[in-house]
Amino acid sequence: MPHDLTDFITGMPKAELHVHIEGCLEPRMLLQFAERNGVDLPYQDEDEVLAAQDYGEPALDNFLKYHENCLRVLKTGQDFYELAYAYFRKCAENNVVYLEIMFETQAHVSRGLVFSEFFGAINQARKEARRDFKVEANWIMSFQRDHSAESSMEILDMAVPFKDEIIAVGLDNYEVNNFALKFVEVFRRAREEGYRLTSHCDCNQQNSIEHIRQCLELLQVERIDHGLHVIDSPELTTIVRERQIPLTMCPTWRPSDPAPRRMESIRKMLELGLLVSVNSDDPEEFASRYMNNIFIEMHKQGSYTKDEIVRLTRNAFSSAWISEDSRSHYLEELEKYAAA
Ligand code: ADE
Ligand code: ZN
Repeated sequence: MPHDLTDFITGMPKAELHVHIEGCLEPRMLLQFAERNGVDLPYQDEDEVLAAQDYGEPALDNFLKYHENCLRVLKTGQDFYELAYAYFRKCAENNVVYLEIMFETQAHVSRGLVFSEFFGAINQARKEARRDFKVEANWIMSFQRDHSAESSMEILDMAVPFKDEIIAVGLDNYEVNNFALKFVEVFRRAREEGYRLTSHCDCNQQNSIEHIRQCLELLQVERIDHGLHVIDSPELTTIVRERQIPLTMCPTWRPSDPAPRRMESIRKMLELGLLVSVNSDDPEEFASRYMNNIFIEMHKQGSYTKDEIVRLTRNAFSSAWISEDSRSHYLEELEKYAAA
């Protein structure tokens, strides 16, 4: 029986780099917001919400349809504020001390919401979380790939007054073919405006390897969200290792399949010297739940050792878009903790 790492994992200072704030909406809040905003939901109670999270195939599409249906309950600044503040409390409970969090844009603006209102609300929660929980966070502004490049340009205009509050831009949603080509001008502008750049390259999508290549070459992304298929290509493996492009893997899927997946692939990424981390993605919609649970399940079900878990966490801090002073501080805290 291997040594149980639950206490070690729980107390370890952690970072999370791949989480969508909209995927943090607890079923309880989903129902409450639907009620107060007069939004019709096909679920009567929390059990029915959880039953709907049994996505099936095609996985990404089915998940996104569920996710988009839930987004409709988010209407007011108050909704976004409560969602984000509750999530930051969870981070503190999980000893997640640093985060880079994605927020969706076209998904809200196309429903008539005002950028300054929803972003202002989550950003207020971020500031309060620093004060109340000592949790530090930065925002990644996500464009939805199924929306137009023009609409992404409009979002960049809307974000101008908040530029100093947003660290990066990214791409998420449906992995439409040649999406990188579609967003070349958007990413060129974002880079010129000083944003860091990332993109989802989801698992088991068509043309996965080509999409990763295009993201690196055409969009010049500095990080890839997921990026599992890098290791299917020796050429991409070399590029990603040499440039130390972070890969933010998310090992869990629907709650009815609770075991973390791709344990051997993540181990292989570590062995290949890739800057891989593990993350929750959508903690209230996936089996991930929060960071402690992910590492505990990786230990119990994937036989991940203390060294491997510390290494994944070191990689997360090494991947973060923070000052070198902050990085040294977080890494020192982690090493001190691991050695004690
Ligand atoms: N939106 C929320 N989670 C996502 C994921 N993993 N891939 C693409 N879009 C998403
Ligand atoms: Zn994601």
